[in-house]
Amino acid sequence: MNTPMQPETVPALPANPPTWHRRLLEGRAAVFATLATVAISIGGIVEIAPMFALQDDLRTAHADIAPYTPLEVAGRDIYVSEGCYNCHSQMIRPFRAETLRYGPWTRAEEYVWDRPFQLGSRRIGPDLQRVGGKYPSAWHWEHMKDPRSTSPGSIMPSYPWLYTQRIDGDDVRASVAALRTLGTPYTDDEVANAPQLAYKQGAAIVSDLRAMQIKTATGDLEVIALIAYLQRLGTDGRAALASAEPAPGGAP
Ligand code: HEC
Repeated sequence: MNTPMQPETVPALPANPPTWHRRLLEGRAAVFATLATVAISIGGIVEIAPMFALQDDLRTAHADIAPYTPLEVAGRDIYVSEGCYNCHSQMIRPFRAETLRYGPWTRAEEYVWDRPFQLGSRRIGPDLQRVGGKYPSAWHWEHMKDPRSTSPGSIMPSYPWLYTQRIDGDDVRASVAALRTLGTPYTDDEVANAPQLAYKQGAAIVSDLRAMQIKTATGDLEVIALIAYLQRLGTDGRAALASAEPAPGGAP
């Protein structure tokens, strides 16, 4: 029934296998290690060197996406320190359901000044990448104080301390200076006058709130910085995309 298995024919080893190529490298650990290091370094330089050359291009190539203002930087620091990213993403994916709900999907260049990125990994709350301009500042003021007041049934926590804690001018300047070290093109003036620029922008938001009968706001409150940041989110990208090609998926 079964044909007996044929024993496999294994080619006989040559009596003296060639070993010269092994002796050449593998026999000499120091030489081998040196050559391997040289080879890996060449690969590394080819990958890394162009990125340094790119730095200058970034500043002109992304003229559409302006760096955050000092007050927005302060707001962003609060966003990070309060852990808002645990519940909110900042990344609209190129799917129809997402673009219908949130707006145009986000392109990589929109994050060029985001250090570190706030893409997030969970959406317990909605995506915030295009929240800028979606609501009046007064809405954010009420929402951050008591999310249930604007969004019945919301599970977002209240942040009452943002209404008593104030931003520190020196901290704002330090954050802006640190971002400049990392390549964000702030001028000397912007770094030196970061606190003044922040308070000025804060005052504009406060007068906005006054017009909506919110009288207790002052320009240096943490919540004002956070509102400045939220109102900025995704606005440059949206404007740049509006003048560019329509996105796949039929979204604007
Ligand atoms: C426990 C999860 C959670 C945390 C933490 C959280 N949020 Fe929310 N957020 C939500 C949920 C849920 C909603 C949707 C209901 C609502 O509007 O409150 C929301 C809504 C929002 C909205 C309105 C978005 C829209 O398009 O309607 C903004 C703005 C917002 N959150 C900002 C923040 C900021 C800023 C922080 C950090 C200070 C934060 N959230 C922290 C869960 C969270």
